[in-house]
Amino acid sequence: MKAHFFSLLLASFLKSRTDAAWCYNSEMSCTSTCTGPEFWSNMSNSECNGLSQSPINIVTRKTEQDPDLTPIQLIKYQESHSWNIRNSGKSVQVNIPHGPLISGGKLKTFYRAVQFHLHWGKNGSPGSEHTVDGEQYPMELHIVHIKQQYTSLAEALRDPTGLAVLGFFYEMSVNNNRNYDPISSALNKIIETGANTTIPNMTLASVIPPQETLTNYFRYQGSLTTPNCAESVVWTVFESTIPISISQLSEFSKLKFQDGNPLTYNYRSVQPLNSRKVYRSGSDAVLASAALLAATVLVSITLSQSG
Ligand SMILES: *[C@@H]1O[C@H](CO)[C@@H](O)[C@H](O)[C@H]1NC(C)=O
Ligand SMILES: *[C@@H]1O[C@H](CO)[C@@H](O)[C@H](O)[C@H]1NC(C)=O
Ligand SMILES: *[C@@H]1O[C@H](CO)[C@@H](O)[C@H](O)[C@H]1NC(C)=O
Ligand SMILES: [Zn+2]
Repeated sequence: MKAHFFSLLLASFLKSRTDAAWCYNSEMSCTSTCTGPEFWSNMSNSECNGLSQSPINIVTRKTEQDPDLTPIQLIKYQESHSWNIRNSGKSVQVNIPHGPLISGGKLKTFYRAVQFHLHWGKNGSPGSEHTVDGEQYPMELHIVHIKQQYTSLAEALRDPTGLAVLGFFYEMSVNNNRNYDPISSALNKIIETGANTTIPNMTLASVIPPQETLTNYFRYQGSLTTPNCAESVVWTVFESTIPISISQLSEFSKLKFQDGNPLTYNYRSVQPLNSRKVYRSGSDAVLASAALLAATVLVSITLSQSG
């Protein structure tokens, strides 16, 4: 009886520990009771200990080329709308109520955009979630889409391919990226956790690299990178990067966590690949340019013969 009572007590102790809100290591302090990454897997309904977790380190020489990974079709990405942008206490999140869509690139159906958010380091130090051959970029953009047939994220999370997330890396540039001016000015108004404001007029296309540069990407099956880490994401991580200046990057580090400390290092560390494979799109760049060179030589021979 005593032992039973004790185990009940232990269970309730563990429960109370692991039901505390999740947080990043950068948010933990001596006084906080939040659940850091080490214990995300102990939270209720957690899949954070699964075998198909995200993010991962992409080892390019181990990726397998798949010619069926054609360019992703971006539908209504050019439509201009006003956006609600919010300091979620974990990131900056922009909700997308207007339903731009993506298809193609081996996605089985249309997926509708629902929100985008970012992960960063501190004042431009490394902060992306995915890494490529061990390189971590200063920031990463995630545009979250759900299968068109679903009306909520919760519904999509029960489907192993319910979500399609497009991931983009940022790379430090000397000049400011003018496309990010609307976001920069909004950040000043959402310093505190929970604050939100409106971006009057912006397109989704303006926050990503030009569409013609998006043919090269990586594809793998993974998870959400925050609890409950549901394994229901078809990941598409693009090679082409978004330029951003150090001063623009630093503006993200001025935001605050719930406790008032700087909202920095809001990324999850890379997870084991286990038995998964990472695929890469399109034609091999080296082979493509070699073929182009051969074609050019052929044309000039033909021309010189005919002339
Ligand atoms: C957390 O879960 C792991 C297994 O996933 C277990 O080994 C560990 O004891 C748990 N820790 C706590 C504090 O519940
Ligand atoms: C935005 O903030 C206002 C308070 O300033 C609040 O009433 C509203 O619910 C918030 N909206 C969103 C979408 O968070
Ligand atoms: C939004 O911007 C686009 C071009 O970027 C412009 O054509 C359109 O008139 C603007 N709409 C509003 C409501 O300001
Ligand atoms: Zn994310």
